Amino acid sequence: MHLAFLNQKGGVGKTTLAVNVADAIARRGNRTLLIDADPQGSALEWAAAREANHDATDVPFPVVGLATDFIHKELPSLARGYDCVVIDGPPRVNKVSAAAIMASDLVLIPVQPSPYDVWATDDIIELIEQARTLRPEIDARFVVNRKIAKTALGQAINHALIDYPLPVFGSQICQRIAFADTATKGQSVLEAVPNEPAAAEILNLTNEIMELFDEQGRIVSRQAAQQA
Ligand SMILES: Nc1ncnc2c1ncn2[C@@H]1O[C@H](COP(=O)(O)OP(=O)(O)O)[C@@H](O)[C@H]1O
Ligand SMILES: [Mg+2]
Repeated sequence: MHLAFLNQKGGVGKTTLAVNVADAIARRGNRTLLIDADPQGSALEWAAAREANHDATDVPFPVVGLATDFIHKELPSLARGYDCVVIDGPPRVNKVSAAAIMASDLVLIPVQPSPYDVWATDDIIELIEQARTLRPEIDARFVVNRKIAKTALGQAINHALIDYPLPVFGSQICQRIAFADTATKGQSVLEAVPNEPAAAEILNLTNEIMELFDEQGRIVSRQAAQQA
C-alpha cells in the first residue's frame, strides 16, 4: 500500500494528514513507513518534536527524508518489510511530485473548502494523468480539509469538485485546534486526543482509504472501475 499526499499549494494539510493517517494505519497493525518528500522536512520536524517530547516514547512508525526525483526507483528497496508507505509531498509541482505519483497506488489531494483551492490543483491533476499513461491503476482523490464544523460544504466548492475528473472522499476533516496542538508535540490525534472529533475524522478517512485496497495491499478501486 503506497499512498501520497500531494498538492502544489502549501498549507492545505498534506503533512497533517500524512502523519495522522500513517499513525492510524500503523495502529491497525500495519508496519508503516512515512517518507518526507518535502525538502522543508515538516514530517521530519514532527519526528524531532516527538523525540523531544518525553510523553511520546514509542515510535509508531519511522520517518525518513527522501526528496528526490528517484522516489519511485528507491521505494521498492526502502519499502521492503513494510505493509504501508505514506509519502508527504512537496509544496510544488516538480520532478519530486511526479516521482511520488509514480511510486503510489493512491494519491490524496487535500483541499480546503474553497473553489480557489480546487482550481489550484490543475497542475497536479495533469501530472496524475501523465503518470496514468504508464500506470493506469493509480487512484487519486480529493480530501476536504479544514472544513468549518457543522457547516455544509459551500455550493461553490461542491460545483468546483463536480467539474473535476477525480472523486472526493466522503470523510471530511474539519478545522480543529487539536491538529495543530498535537503536531507541536510530535503526537497524533489518535494518540493524544482519541475521544475527540479530530480522531474520529482521521479514523473515518483511514477506513475509507483501506476499503480501496485488498488484503494483500493491492489497490482494487481503479481496476474494478476499469473493468466495469
Ligand atoms: N484540519 C486542520 N485543523 C486545524 N489546523 C490544521 C488542519 N490541517 C492543517 N492545519 C494547520 O495548518 C498548517 C498547514 O498544515 P500542513 O499540514 O503543514 O500543510 P502542508 O503540508 O500542505 O503545507 C499547520 O499549521 C497545521 O497545523
Ligand atoms: Mg507539508
